[in-house]
Amino acid sequence: MTEDTPYNLQVVRWFAVMTVVWGIVGMAVGVLLAGQLAWPALNFDLPWLSFGRIRPLHTNAVIFAFGGCALMASALYVVQRTCKTPLISSGLAQFVFWGWQTVIVLAAITLPLGLTTTKEYAELEWPIDILIALVWVAFGIVFFGTIAKRTVQHIYVANWFFGALIIGVAILHIFNSLALPVSLTKSYSIYSGSVDAMMQWWYGHNAVGFFLTAGFLGIMYYFVPKQAGRPVYSYRLSIVHFWALIAIYVWAGPHHLHYTSLPDWAQSVGMAMSLVLLAPSWGGMINGIMTLSGAWDKLRTDPILKFLIVSLSFYGMSTFEGPMMSIKTINALSHNTDWTIGHVHSGALGWVAMVSIGAMYHLIPLLFGRKAGDMYSVKLINLHFWMSTLGTVLYIASMWVNGLLQGLMWRATSIDGTLTYSFVESLEASYPGYYVRFIGGAIFLAGMLVMAYNVYRTIRGDSREEAPAPATPLVSSTAAATGGGA
Ligand code: HEM
Ligand code: HEM
Repeated sequence: MTEDTPYNLQVVRWFAVMTVVWGIVGMAVGVLLAGQLAWPALNFDLPWLSFGRIRPLHTNAVIFAFGGCALMASALYVVQRTCKTPLISSGLAQFVFWGWQTVIVLAAITLPLGLTTTKEYAELEWPIDILIALVWVAFGIVFFGTIAKRTVQHIYVANWFFGALIIGVAILHIFNSLALPVSLTKSYSIYSGSVDAMMQWWYGHNAVGFFLTAGFLGIMYYFVPKQAGRPVYSYRLSIVHFWALIAIYVWAGPHHLHYTSLPDWAQSVGMAMSLVLLAPSWGGMINGIMTLSGAWDKLRTDPILKFLIVSLSFYGMSTFEGPMMSIKTINALSHNTDWTIGHVHSGALGWVAMVSIGAMYHLIPLLFGRKAGDMYSVKLINLHFWMSTLGTVLYIASMWVNGLLQGLMWRATSIDGTLTYSFVESLEASYPGYYVRFIGGAIFLAGMLVMAYNVYRTIRGDSREEAPAPATPLVSSTAAATGGGA
């Protein structure tokens, strides 16, 4: 707790700052990866810089370090504000922070050394997995404990999504990571064959559903109404959205295993559920975007709102694309091509990163004793917004072109039935896309550096360089904005 607020903001502050730090680190590794695919010599013949080792370093850093810190900062802030009570335990919250940072550092050491379980997004070896489970349970205790001692009756909808994130990820992580250790750095999964694949993609897809989607929807349901200064468009829709999303996501995993040895019926169930998933996903997107109805003009002047609303548009786009890619005949074209990589980053950069960046711009001034929206420079937020948007568009457009190109070249046959193109020919044709993706990624990363400078000047307490502030107040304190909770 601090003198001027009844809330416990210390750990939230740390997580918010580390969101920016890990964002830069994780995306820098992403840019290096993109560089290696364009100029393979960039691995410098060093085993620990080779593509296979730093690719999981990138995914772990951006998802769990950058995304994880953004989620923990937001969840631990929102739960206090909407429950009108400080965190139940400052000590436990500090354990969550330091434990999570330790996990990240251990990942950054072990993955380049080649220590991996080989399960995508669950590569970390068993001792780190146990630490993750402990930290995550502590996170759950702090979060749900704070909800339990709330001073308002209502549990605001953002907390429902954060709660689903915490419970969902705990179950996924524990069951997918079950393994027999043979040494401190090596273990074998208790699952094998098709069952292992099914478990892995039940985990993998729901990591998208509960970590990259539900958690960030929690951010959306608090920060969009706050930043827009308006109540959420439809509270009823948010409840329907929540239950429909949770109920359907868990069945969609098999769309990652089309045309494999997984039983055909399971693949079809995965495909059908993925198509149904379009409805709740778009329900959520519409609920977020329509929160601005009647105040669209704010988009002209408020770059934080631009981040939040454009992130929702990318969310809508990737959750339209995903169901299409899960149709078996379309997946036969897209699978294993750069189309998947484009889809991933329209969700990862366009949705996850942009909504987190918007939320951090809202939060950071408040955490460091300034007024809402009082970042050091609004112009720099605007510059960052355009860099992120341009970077994302260059990334995903180049990967769509590459994906279609690869899929079509791989399946092309000549009149005599032989393949028209060799694999190397398709690789050569992909190079222009790799250059464009590298440029897009570098622009997105440069935007993060602009953010770091702006955050640094804000935290230092430097007064704003430009005037006037946006014409409309950046945030309204109306209780209605967060369903009466904050
Ligand atoms: C500057 C920004 C970024 C760049 C340049 C970048 C670049 C890359 C590259 C080159 C790959 C490997 C692609 C391949 O194997 O063909 C990759 C994979 C991946 N990235 Fe990024 N990335 C960035 C940001 C992010 C962010 C913010 C997230 C998540 C929040 C993310 C999530 C992922 C995931 C999940 C994969 C694995 C995809 C798959 O296996 O299908 N990336 N990224
Ligand atoms: C309705 C929602 C969605 C559906 C039905 C869906 C469906 C799909 C499909 C069919 C694939 C390709 C599987 C393959 O061929 O191997 C895929 C890959 C992927 N999607 Fe989505 N997607 C959705 C939303 C999202 C969002 C919002 C994100 C990110 C924030 C995301 C992240 C990913 C990742 C990381 C992969 C690559 C997994 C891997 O192979 O490593 N998806 N998705």
